[in-house]
Amino acid sequence: WPGFAPYIKAINDLKRARNAVVLAHNYMTPEIFHCVADVIGDSLQLAREASKADAEVIVQCGVHFMAETSKLLNPDKTVLIPDMRAGCSLAASITGADVRALREAYPGVPVVTYVNTSADVKAESDICCTSSNAVRVVESLGAKRVIVIPDEFLAKWVQTQTDVEIITWKGHCEVHERFTADELRAYREADPGVKIIAHPECPPDVIDEADFTGSTSGMIKWVEDNQPSKVLLVTECSMSDNVAVDAPNTEFVRPCNLCPHMKRITLPKILDSLVFMKEEVTIDPAVADRARMAVERMINLNH
Ligand code: 13P
Ligand code: SF4
Repeated sequence: WPGFAPYIKAINDLKRARNAVVLAHNYMTPEIFHCVADVIGDSLQLAREASKADAEVIVQCGVHFMAETSKLLNPDKTVLIPDMRAGCSLAASITGADVRALREAYPGVPVVTYVNTSADVKAESDICCTSSNAVRVVESLGAKRVIVIPDEFLAKWVQTQTDVEIITWKGHCEVHERFTADELRAYREADPGVKIIAHPECPPDVIDEADFTGSTSGMIKWVEDNQPSKVLLVTECSMSDNVAVDAPNTEFVRPCNLCPHMKRITLPKILDSLVFMKEEVTIDPAVADRARMAVERMINLNH
């Protein structure tokens, strides 16, 4: 769309002038994902890249918990988020006090926290995980029982992949919880050749209908490796838009749900961020030190 061009040029010019890097999640709209991002990826890839960033400024095109993770890993850098209101229903579902109460209820049971949480919650945890490494993180602890919070559906999916007993919480992703097994069955009946790929934040009966379950980068890789003629990505809408650019031989069936938080990030707001150096993400240092340990344990596990 021609209206995007001046923003794209101004953002890319200012990035150089400010020595800034733009980290963009796979759910960003295509003009952000393909035209202004320096680094793209799922939550784990973005956290890893943030830990290596050598720019002075990080502009996080994603939601608040992702910007907090970048700040945890770069305490001396300026981390900006183009819209401070970009939250997440999972991050909002649990507090640090809730984690302390869980620890009292299950003494000695290690706590694995999904990165989709606030720094306060990470600070109360033993280690973080993302949807792409959750099983590995859980099994790395060598425990019989593990608390995996706050996503009930991710935890239930992990339970199908491991013998470790999983205790969880009642948090849900407001985007993925809306998909239904009935709607997927209807797509398959209409077109038995369609491949169905689901994110592990989906409800268990939705995952049961899928040919593959994985994180957003896992889904992208699956499409690249398998080159299906028709695929349905059971996840946020921008994923199909972004992946379709590099998959000209695949038809994307698009029942999708928008994440209103991710969609707060737009080109004009990214430009404002770089012009006015706003909005800066800060974390209480007492919380940050403990939260950083949980994130770094996860990152180190993957090296
Ligand atoms: P991943 O990109 O790590 O799969 O996470 C998806 C998500 O919902 C992020 O908000
Ligand atoms: Fe949170 Fe779901 Fe939006 Fe991801 S898609 S940011 S998990 S509400």
